Amino acid sequence: MSILCGKDILRTDLISDEELGLILSVAARFERVLDGGGRLNNMEGLVLATLFFEPSTRTRLSFETAMQRLGGSVITVADPKTSSAAKGESLADSMRTVEGYADLIAIRHPRKGAAQEAADAVQVPVINAGDGTGQHPTQALLDVYTIQKERDSLEGLTVTLAGDLKNGRTVHSLVYLLARFGVRLRLISPPSLEMPAEITEELRQGGADVDAGDDLAAAMGESDVVYVTRIQRERFEDPAEYERLKGSYVVDMPMVRQAKPGITIMHPLPRVSEIAPEVDAYEGAAYFRQAANGVPIRMALLALLAGRE
Ligand code: CP
Repeated sequence: MSILCGKDILRTDLISDEELGLILSVAARFERVLDGGGRLNNMEGLVLATLFFEPSTRTRLSFETAMQRLGGSVITVADPKTSSAAKGESLADSMRTVEGYADLIAIRHPRKGAAQEAADAVQVPVINAGDGTGQHPTQALLDVYTIQKERDSLEGLTVTLAGDLKNGRTVHSLVYLLARFGVRLRLISPPSLEMPAEITEELRQGGADVDAGDDLAAAMGESDVVYVTRIQRERFEDPAEYERLKGSYVVDMPMVRQAKPGITIMHPLPRVSEIAPEVDAYEGAAYFRQAANGVPIRMALLALLAGRE
């Protein structure tokens, strides 16, 4: 039985090194089977519920694809207006109800901490598919998987994370995983959108090489990977402040040509204007391959949590 069987996936800092290695290796195995034209039925007879109380394209659809590629079934709330949350039902009551229908639950919610609250209400495995400005652990897992595939290894890399590091939950999850591989982290943001201090302090106390600043072009000159993020409009109380900051960074081909040769460009997507469309043709532009990697990673997670790997 897998060491992950029956567990929740809520935060990357709660995933052990052994669990991380297992998830990455099972994902690679599943991907090889699919690439070879094989079929998998590990999750046959099981049901995944995807409860999304915030918009999503990649996370929800790749979870659902993953479950279907493993022979399982999916039930979904894709729009909270169509669920009884709109009538005032509590999150705990919704979870206890869905637990009667599904064997695993993936939840996205606008409130930080909601995934933990959801997991506390039920016995079935719960996966945090993004909780407000908190974490997005499955995104970070597919990000690490992508860097491994694009660069062969994470050892010795310098990775720049750029954009809205205050509100971006993907980077809050990713830094904990990158630090484990000894990656040098360069955190680039406008001063008001810096990575929360408690996260950088925890990383530094753990021995990570973390440097913060606001000059993206300089950071790209010394980076093997740049991970660009969107300024998170939905997290701003003041629309004028969002308007002031939304164009802070735009990666275009002149910037890529000035960067370290061969730099890998990533983005969790959706992008707004942070990466110019002209960059899509650059061979190191990995963001759509990155999105596709969500399927094998989520297949691995679902199978491991269900004890069906
Ligand atoms: N990366 C990501 O979480 O995308 P979605 O919001 O489309 O799920």
